[in-house]
Amino acid sequence: MPQVKATEETILAAAEALAQGKLVGFPTETVYGLGADARTGEAVARIFEVKQRPDFNPLIVHVADLAAAQEIATFTPMAEKLAGHFWPGALTLVLPLKETSGISEFVSAGLGTIALRVPAHRVAAKLLEVSKLAIAAPSANLSGHVSPTTAEHVFADLGDQPAFILDGGPCPIGLESTVVGFEGDKVFLLRAGGISRDEIEEIVGAQVHEAVDGGETPISPGQLASHYSPNSPLRLNAVDVKPGEALIGFGADMLETDGPVINLSARGDLREAAANLFSALRELDAGKPAGIAVMTIAQTGLGEAINDRLKRAAAPR
Ligand code: TXA
Ligand code: MG
Repeated sequence: MPQVKATEETILAAAEALAQGKLVGFPTETVYGLGADARTGEAVARIFEVKQRPDFNPLIVHVADLAAAQEIATFTPMAEKLAGHFWPGALTLVLPLKETSGISEFVSAGLGTIALRVPAHRVAAKLLEVSKLAIAAPSANLSGHVSPTTAEHVFADLGDQPAFILDGGPCPIGLESTVVGFEGDKVFLLRAGGISRDEIEEIVGAQVHEAVDGGETPISPGQLASHYSPNSPLRLNAVDVKPGEALIGFGADMLETDGPVINLSARGDLREAAANLFSALRELDAGKPAGIAVMTIAQTGLGEAINDRLKRAAAPR
């Protein structure tokens, strides 16, 4: 059983496992990650194998601080400004990879750029500190499935394939990091996530641009249409609940139903809803309902990232 409570001792043991090229599941403030030493090709390749992930989909590298990030990628002044405001935290920056980085080419899938973030969770921070590694870590779920926000979710998807799953309790944000790319001073939103567009625009002092597939602008290859999927089909913007359906609700005005139901936030709080979303999908899905009806969720603030995940979860497989 790889699942252990995250303590000084188990974090140290997990750091040693990483140094030996093994995989470790660990909590971040966003979702649980499946980590490997980013400079060991075999370890990184094993992530793709365990997740059953298509290898064109590049990984995020987690580092202890800005200095460690600058050994790996070339920062523009705008990138430094965003790192200064949001790190440690749920913002991932996609930047030109330095030739001297030593990062395995499996990490960035040969793109010439690299996605970097400094996580804020105390367990992730401690693991980075004691291992002294750059840790490549996608979300610790099977590719295409709902992302994990507890150690139990990680074990349910990956079993004993990681050497350790460090249990640090439920992830406080519950949605993956926001991913941004750059063209000069222009900032592009590659994936909506735990830091809202508004928060980023406030620091950038200008609009954040959309990433357009096939255009000149950077795109995020991980943005597959069908993703974050439960087994039961999802029905969005539901105004009623059909027989056999489970319900995911939001706010004080819940739809009537006799079936299984989870309210993401009775007080209509988008942060609370984000933190509950993936757990709710997994929990209702486990009851094998005919479908999951989801009430409308506002598109403001974290609602943009919540609706992005719901749309992909509802997309045809
Ligand atoms: O919150 C998170 O970001 C979590 C935790 C564990 O840190 N990690 C995570 O990783 O969500 P993953 O692998 O599931 O998602 C990585 C995202 C994908 O959308 C991928 O396409 C994008 O980052 N990405 C990675 N490298 C990129 C690159 N060089 N250029 C553009 N997009 C990149
Ligand atoms: Mg993922």
